[in-house]
Amino acid sequence: PVIRREDYKPFPWLIPEIALDFDLGLSATRVVSKLTVVRNARADASPTIRLNGDGLQLQSVKVDGQPVTDWSMDGDDLMLPLSGEAHEVEIATEIDPSSNSQLMGLYASGGMLCTQCEAEGFRRITFFPDRPDVLSTYTVRMTGSKAAFPVLLSNGNKVAEGGGENGTHWAEWHDPWPKPSYLFALVAGDLVANHDSFTTMSGRDVELAIYVREGDLDRTGHAMRSLIKSMRWDEETFGREYDLDVFNIVAVSDFNMGAMENKGLNVFNTKYVLADPDTATDADFDGVEGVIAHEYFHNWSGNRITCRDWFQLSLKEGFTVLRDQLFSQDMQGEAVKRIEDVRILRSVQFPEDSGPLAHPIRPDSFREISNFYTSTIYNKGAEVIRMMRTMCGPEAFRKATDLYFERHDGEAATCEDFITAMEDGAGLDLTQFRLWYSQAGTPKVDVALSHSGDTATLTLKQNTPATPDQPGKKPMPIPLKIALFDRDSGTHSGEQLVIFSHAEQSFEFGGFASKPVLSINRGFSAPVTIERDIEGGELVFLAAKDDDSFARYEAMQDLVVRHLTAASGGGLDDADRESGREAIATAFGAILRDEALDDSMRGELVMLPSQTYLAEQQLIADPSRIHEEREGLKAWLGKRFEDELVQLHGRTSAIAFDLGQEARGARKVKTQALVYLAAGNPELASEMAATQYDAADNMTDRQGALMALTGLRTAARTDRLIDFHRRYADNELVVDKWFALQASSLHPSAIEHVKALADHPDFNIRNPNRVRSLYMAFAGNPHAFHVESGEGYRIIADLILKLDPINPQTAARFVPSLGRWRRVEPGRAALMRGELERIAEAKSLSRDTFEQVSRSLG
Ligand code: ARG
Ligand code: ZN
Repeated sequence: PVIRREDYKPFPWLIPEIALDFDLGLSATRVVSKLTVVRNARADASPTIRLNGDGLQLQSVKVDGQPVTDWSMDGDDLMLPLSGEAHEVEIATEIDPSSNSQLMGLYASGGMLCTQCEAEGFRRITFFPDRPDVLSTYTVRMTGSKAAFPVLLSNGNKVAEGGGENGTHWAEWHDPWPKPSYLFALVAGDLVANHDSFTTMSGRDVELAIYVREGDLDRTGHAMRSLIKSMRWDEETFGREYDLDVFNIVAVSDFNMGAMENKGLNVFNTKYVLADPDTATDADFDGVEGVIAHEYFHNWSGNRITCRDWFQLSLKEGFTVLRDQLFSQDMQGEAVKRIEDVRILRSVQFPEDSGPLAHPIRPDSFREISNFYTSTIYNKGAEVIRMMRTMCGPEAFRKATDLYFERHDGEAATCEDFITAMEDGAGLDLTQFRLWYSQAGTPKVDVALSHSGDTATLTLKQNTPATPDQPGKKPMPIPLKIALFDRDSGTHSGEQLVIFSHAEQSFEFGGFASKPVLSINRGFSAPVTIERDIEGGELVFLAAKDDDSFARYEAMQDLVVRHLTAASGGGLDDADRESGREAIATAFGAILRDEALDDSMRGELVMLPSQTYLAEQQLIADPSRIHEEREGLKAWLGKRFEDELVQLHGRTSAIAFDLGQEARGARKVKTQALVYLAAGNPELASEMAATQYDAADNMTDRQGALMALTGLRTAARTDRLIDFHRRYADNELVVDKWFALQASSLHPSAIEHVKALADHPDFNIRNPNRVRSLYMAFAGNPHAFHVESGEGYRIIADLILKLDPINPQTAARFVPSLGRWRRVEPGRAALMRGELERIAEAKSLSRDTFEQVSRSLG
């Protein structure tokens, strides 16, 4: 059934309190749940209460202490008649965590028990109104074998514990903050902890602990430091203080997503907890810092203020992503972080927004909410709130967030509540801006600058393409930061913010004796596509001189995008290709030589636009043509700048390892130099990469070298791949890298490697990290995934069919790669579509996969 936002009705009952009692066992856990049920005066009365369930074995139901039999089942839900105003309902169920391969609800992972309840996993533990607007105070008691589960954790504070019979023990936890069921968590296992503490701004002491398996303890330091920094930052930047005496994090190897913000007990994918220089790259360190912050920040944006219904998901996710982005900017430097965030947005969210799965950040309908944990909800959601911040400025924004937190604390709120708080707190008028919440699709802005007399005129036109269910769009307010550069001096007289809110609009700027060079959407102030009428020479100018680092990066990207789009579209003869490359070389050389640039930024500026982003620029793309032209340009630059690149590699190799910005920047460009050289001079690069691999004293260098090697057909490639596996065989996160590197490699036989790796003894279809490391990497490797025969599509479709009965949520995440068929040349499009049809014909598809496949077929 399709669920619609407009159908929202408050739940007829309140459940102010719930007491859960778990008798824990890996293959049989008994759950007794006692609910205090009271009529909701603010809802229509109902003679029954609907308690959601999913795969539960019901054992008994009592009302007010008496066994009852007048209940019935509606599908998986338990319907229980209740005659009075208030009752106590007691329900006993049994579940089998060891057979829970969906990893939703209570499941077993490496001998421990853990939970994942967002969005609708609590109903797999006990019968309950599993919706975010029913808030209850939880008391949790659990009993289990002391040997198997020495550590027993749940939300809130531990209030009692003790020993039991037959080698059991028990613990009782109480969470004073009312919360929806999706924030419930329980962990039981043989775990060790890194303990620390934090004193909040009002002077309360909080005990912090990060729980991991025995051997992983020495890789938790970075996560703990990140947590402490996050807690301090949220006090300083948003005035948010932590509100319990303990904050626990548990790392789990089998996890569908990145992590989960359960109140006082965050559960994490090990990937976002464990890091040390030998096994984690600089990017992995950043991932840990960012996700730890994200989950911690949810304590206010998500937990203290939660969502009324799942259509409001971006209320907590978009806002929390913005908060974690601002935090990471403060930790690592704004310029590079902003470019990284935009790169993710454009390579994942833009394609989503222009394809069959496009949806507004506040969707109108869905079948399976798990399918809406998307880049649109998260990343575009963050951009939309960032625009409000840009329009009112950081101080007014802080006033508005203070108002939001104060006004809605303890509530299940809506996106509309957030917007209203922004209006009231920051003095913005967001009447038209609300369209950003209801309209899907990435607006396209056409930009032209003309000049006459001493006036420059900026003319803007906007258009948002049609998306499923939304044929016509209205103009939206688009905040664009601009600067007008004087050609001779290379300077401008100040950045300005233009709010562009009509279909077409002009803005005049006086005082320009000659035509200035326009820098627009500086800092990526709006999540739109800019089509600018600008000469190549002006892009070279901006790539060398723009003082906004994002705009500088963008000028370089634009230069390359224009060239590769023309070249792969078949519109360039040899002479034009040559002159296009020369223009790029001018800017590329200037960037390599610019001594004022730090290496981190240099690394961003020399990065070629991704193939996905390039494909996105064309209505119908030919993946192999784009790949050829992109690799061709890379090889040409690699040859053209061979000496400089070798020199750059030498200079940066001499910088000793540490986690500071300078050394990190050096590592980034070091590997980039190898990547260009691997394209331009494979023999030389193979030797250099092998040397870098052997000399590496950290994972960034070692993985970077191995990445360059995996694309080459040299003996060094095979040797180092074998070495890497042997060296890290007992570290599952590094073995994941080993799979991913091969699946994403430029090696001509990458698809054969993927098929072989699927049979490798280390491959395990039940572990989401391993599945993603092989198959997500493969689906994102255009030359392998898009082989003309269609074999790549078949491999992904086979995976979806095989994985769907095991873990539907993860299976459905692979559908979008096939769903792009309308934007691919006709031969491949038919093959992709054919695979989607084959999946659609399968018997008993999960709701997750069914929804994604049917939307993709349209
Ligand atoms: N709320 C979590 C986060 O953003 C994501 C959990 C989603 N889980 C799921 N099974 N859909 O950090
Ligand atoms: Zn989140």
